Amino acid sequence: MIATLASDLRALVKDGQVLDSPSELCVFAYDASFMTQLEPRVPDAAVVARSTADVSNVLRYAHERGIPVTPRGAASGQAAGSVAVQGGIVLSVHAMDHILEVDVANMQAFCEPGVVHARLLEELRPTGLTFPPDPGSTRMATVGGLASTNAHGMRAVKYGPTGAWVLGLEVVLPNGDVIETGSVASRAKQSSAGLELTKLFVGSEGTLGVFTKLRLKLMPIPPARAIVMALFDVLENAGQAVQAVFAAGISPSAIEIVDQRCIQAINLYRPLLGLPEAEAMLLFEVDGNPPGCRWDAEKIVEVVTPLSTRVEWSDEPKRMTALWEGRSVVGAAVGLLRPGSNRAYCGEDICVPVARIPECLRALQDISTKYGIPIATYGHIGGGDLHPGHLIDARDPDEIARLLRVADEVHELALRLGGTTTGEHGVGAVRAPFMAREHGPALETMRAIKAALDPKCILNPGKIFPA
Ligand code: LAC
Ligand code: ZN
Repeated sequence: MIATLASDLRALVKDGQVLDSPSELCVFAYDASFMTQLEPRVPDAAVVARSTADVSNVLRYAHERGIPVTPRGAASGQAAGSVAVQGGIVLSVHAMDHILEVDVANMQAFCEPGVVHARLLEELRPTGLTFPPDPGSTRMATVGGLASTNAHGMRAVKYGPTGAWVLGLEVVLPNGDVIETGSVASRAKQSSAGLELTKLFVGSEGTLGVFTKLRLKLMPIPPARAIVMALFDVLENAGQAVQAVFAAGISPSAIEIVDQRCIQAINLYRPLLGLPEAEAMLLFEVDGNPPGCRWDAEKIVEVVTPLSTRVEWSDEPKRMTALWEGRSVVGAAVGLLRPGSNRAYCGEDICVPVARIPECLRALQDISTKYGIPIATYGHIGGGDLHPGHLIDARDPDEIARLLRVADEVHELALRLGGTTTGEHGVGAVRAPFMAREHGPALETMRAIKAALDPKCILNPGKIFPA
């Protein structure tokens, strides 16, 4: 079957869209996860789709023959979600990257799934509208990937997850049929018409269907913003500061935390920032109208000052960029904490109740000490989402073994604290083993939905649902 796979596919889509040489296929064997760094999975063939018809033709063919199909966008995911862990076909939609229409009057955008998030925002800017979900990976991640993982990003604390901004989807089902969710040809901004299929497909990580078009809700770009930066020498005070800000009636558009190790990393990466030593730094962003932002920022300073060792705020663009810079470079900076090390993405996206964040951060440090693996943590503290960054020497098998135990303990910690193993990156293959514990009998309901839509289980097998 596999011998004829590529030639069969070449009969379905244009010749150049099918890749099957080992050198071409090896790029599809990875995403950003540590799992694929450890065990790359080369597919049997890859198809670069250019249209809904391409996706439909490939799925119809694969469905008839029971061949696994793994949908893929930019592969910036950290959970092996877009890698063909059971072989078969990788179906990449990264080249379906057209912004089809921006309907300014109705405040919505129609996109193909391969549109990179940052490019969408750039194209929208002159219209005065924006798409609020704001992932840290804006320059890599695609809107199709954001929707398929229900990515949250920095502004979810005020504006909600990607799913809140998807009004409708064109989805190719596993048998090749094409449906439109959110009412056919609708441009309504809201609907109560029947089951919310859009919500079902968002976050399904390519296990139920392949998105070929997205109808996204937009909002006006807020005319002003301000940033408050606060340092803490006691972790618990940082947690209390977040609660105090909410209690003061303020809804920041972002609340980010970086821990002590991250502060050290940022200072290595950007010495000019000269951040003082502290157990944690918080960044609050507020947005809205200019006097409102000033009021909010001053109020945050007032309630945070008794808990903090240093607070400052600004609504001046240059200073705001400088204050925000630490957060924007932290993902790359943590690698400097241990020269020669590798930032390993596994156990990298837990989410816990906001009130338990300080306890969680301390427990992460205990895990780090227990296994001798440095962990630098940052995240979207307003929503409870934390990204522990593990630094290992990937040439040392013993460190790899310890790292995998660290990842398990991190996931177990999140569940023990009443949280989830993934706040925004998705389950993929790496967190599937935790789903039974995380969902209990609800996992069987998810399986029933999967079986109804994909009875032959050809779409992204090995993801979300444990074997
Ligand atoms: C971030 C990604 C890793 O927040 O979710 O930077
Ligand atoms: Zn994040």
